[in-house]
Amino acid sequence: MSPNQVDKDGKIVPDFLGALVEGQAPDLGMPPQLCLFEGNLDPCTIVIFGASGDLTSRKLMPALYNLYLSGALPKPCCVVGVARTPLSREEFHGRMQAGIASQENYDPERWREFAAGLDYYAIDYDSQASFQGLGDFLKDLDGRHGAGGNRLFYLAVPPSLYQPISQRLGQTGMGQEAMNGQGWSRIVVEKPFGHDLKSAMELNATLHQSFREDQIFRIDHYMAKETVQNILILRFANAIFEPLWNRNFIDHVGIIAAEKIGVEHRAGFYEQAGVLRDMFQNHMMQLLTLIAMEPPSRFEGERVRDEKVKAFRSLKPITDPSSAENLFLGQYGTGEIDGVLVSGYREEPGVRPDSLTPTFAVMRVFIDNWRWRGVPFYLASGKRLAKKLTQLVIHFKEVPHSLFANIGLGTIAVNRLILGIQPEEKITLTFETKNPGATVCLRAVTMDFNYYQNYRGPIMDAYEKSLIDVMQGDHMLFWRQDGVELCWSFFSPLIEKCESCTYLGKLIHPYKAGSWGPEAAQDLMRLIFSY
Ligand code: NDP
Ligand code: BG6
Repeated sequence: MSPNQVDKDGKIVPDFLGALVEGQAPDLGMPPQLCLFEGNLDPCTIVIFGASGDLTSRKLMPALYNLYLSGALPKPCCVVGVARTPLSREEFHGRMQAGIASQENYDPERWREFAAGLDYYAIDYDSQASFQGLGDFLKDLDGRHGAGGNRLFYLAVPPSLYQPISQRLGQTGMGQEAMNGQGWSRIVVEKPFGHDLKSAMELNATLHQSFREDQIFRIDHYMAKETVQNILILRFANAIFEPLWNRNFIDHVGIIAAEKIGVEHRAGFYEQAGVLRDMFQNHMMQLLTLIAMEPPSRFEGERVRDEKVKAFRSLKPITDPSSAENLFLGQYGTGEIDGVLVSGYREEPGVRPDSLTPTFAVMRVFIDNWRWRGVPFYLASGKRLAKKLTQLVIHFKEVPHSLFANIGLGTIAVNRLILGIQPEEKITLTFETKNPGATVCLRAVTMDFNYYQNYRGPIMDAYEKSLIDVMQGDHMLFWRQDGVELCWSFFSPLIEKCESCTYLGKLIHPYKAGSWGPEAAQDLMRLIFSY
């Protein structure tokens, strides 16, 4: 075996990673097992409610176009945009094309082919006749294109419309699989799934009036990010991590989802939500559970979701959110992002000038079970922070005894395993080594694995992966209702307490846009994330 190399930055590059850096796959005796997915997808029609909106033009349509380019969409696959705005088919095409034309892979010829299967239907949400008209429109499309009666309804609309739309779909028979032809009928519900525990239960009850559980897909795009999916593979397809993955070896865990963007045009929603509802109750909880959950006996949707639910059940309630140790909230003021002066949250369009909505939070969570008892999980997320960064940091415990203390090397840095989710998709392990030379001198080095190193195949973004999974009927990367309710049971009382005036006035700490959050949270942030 050849010795490890040291790269130009002084980092150790072990032999097998060195081979990957050179672009030569190490001969592991096995072919890479990577592909978009197995099997064929049923022909179907994708019906997007809210097709005149932001999510459709920025995420869903580019995802569908990319899937079309990679040949992953079923044949035929019709896409019908639905919204109240009266638009001709051509006007709708123009809007969607504008969103896609800036992509590197935009090709006018391929776009025309894709757009041939793209239709628009203007709807009145209050009118049953309008929904019946949609049903007829879809049947007509089935007749012309042979999509087999399979329907994927995607609710890319404000949450207040989830219930009325699903009820109308039920009333007009579009939720029932036997009635819309012979095909399947599935509904994708965007986040937020409810505003609190009670509304989440009500929404679920309404959905179930028209759809069975296996027809409902509660999306969380974080679960479908490549590097998030990789967490379970790292933990359970390697024998070396799991023995250390517990309170005996792990000191604390940090999970950060930092954003540079502000509230943008979403003040109407964000003023009611704040960072705890927008990022913590869903995305942050999913990241937490992937670190905390026990191994399922098989890699199957229900078994994975069962294990997640067990972890949610072990969340220790936070009874005193006014303690800064438990919860630290902030709100961005004016500042600089990439050298440009940006407004503070209270100056954003649609935000109240005296708003107490938090745009930043650090929360300490404990998981009361055999594996994790006493290990703090620090979750941090905020808008208008210094950079876009999502990562999970596992901080291992100190060595039990420093045998180098007698030669003046008393402090030894702890080992850290960093799972980079975005923008850098990588895994980094830090450890101590001896500096080369005659004297004994320690230095911390890192071993890096870049997720796409040596991989040349197709890559699916989170919305592409989610759409494919819905077409396949695979629920693994979607929320199950028991998980939603357990997370709301944890967050609802906490948020209610925070929202009472006495708490909020005391809790919200201002921070400069472009910083790493409020001044008083800096020591904690550095300790957890070493930014
Ligand atoms: P938009 O605010 O852009 O709304 C989508 C469409 O819904 C609008 O184009 C409008 O279409 C219709 N609409 C808006 N307000 C109303 C209303 N009061 N009554 C009836 N129709 C209305 O939303 P987004 O596209 O940003 O988001 C859609 C859903 O996806 C939301 O639930 C959001 O929380 C969720 N989401 C969005 C993300 C994003 O990045 N945008 C990320 C994650 C989740 P028309 O008037 O033509 O009917
Ligand atoms: C959404 C939140 O769910 O996730 C947004 O509503 C946030 O406020 C976004 O900006 C972050 O997603 P990503 O994939 O850019 O990290």
